[in-house]
Amino acid sequence: MPVSTLVEIECMKSAVRGILPTEVMNMMTWTQKEASLLKDLKQQEQLCVEKYGQYAQRANDPELKQIFQSIQQTEQQHLQSVSTLMNGQMPQMGQQGQQNQQTHQKQNGHWQQPTGAALQQAMEDDKFLCQDAICTEKEVSGAYNVSIFEFRDPQVRQVLHQIQGAEQQHGEMIYQYMARNGMYQAQ
Ligand SMILES: [Fe+2]
Repeated sequence: MPVSTLVEIECMKSAVRGILPTEVMNMMTWTQKEASLLKDLKQQEQLCVEKYGQYAQRANDPELKQIFQSIQQTEQQHLQSVSTLMNGQMPQMGQQGQQNQQTHQKQNGHWQQPTGAALQQAMEDDKFLCQDAICTEKEVSGAYNVSIFEFRDPQVRQVLHQIQGAEQQHGEMIYQYMARNGMYQAQ
């Protein structure tokens, strides 16, 4: 079937779905490799959304809960952006990923309860969550780094680069939390 016929069919289908034909005309297509990378990135973002949701529940320190919740929101935006790309559209990135670390730095020190050995255990548990989250961010940031090199469209590379920057920022937010709470021994 000639390309022009395919475009006409897409325009008719989009008219039924209420999408402007111009959006269909601007739809991006992917090589097999690009499509496969986007699929992997989407899976990773889904895992991140789920993980930060669970970690926000499990964290003992309210400040850490807040950090995990905030990161989860950004991961949700990443998931949306990658899904939009998979649908052949360019996501609107705006200011997403530019999280303000200040909001998490106001509450210094530890929460009040529990005390003694229970506090020690609670902090150990939180430290584990932080370490695991940093490992995840490293992994995801690496996946974006590798993927960027495979995409033909410079604008898409820019989107992936922006998301990668946000993952590094998440790692930094968690690192800062650990450093403030004596959980991170510099080597
Ligand atoms: Fe992400």
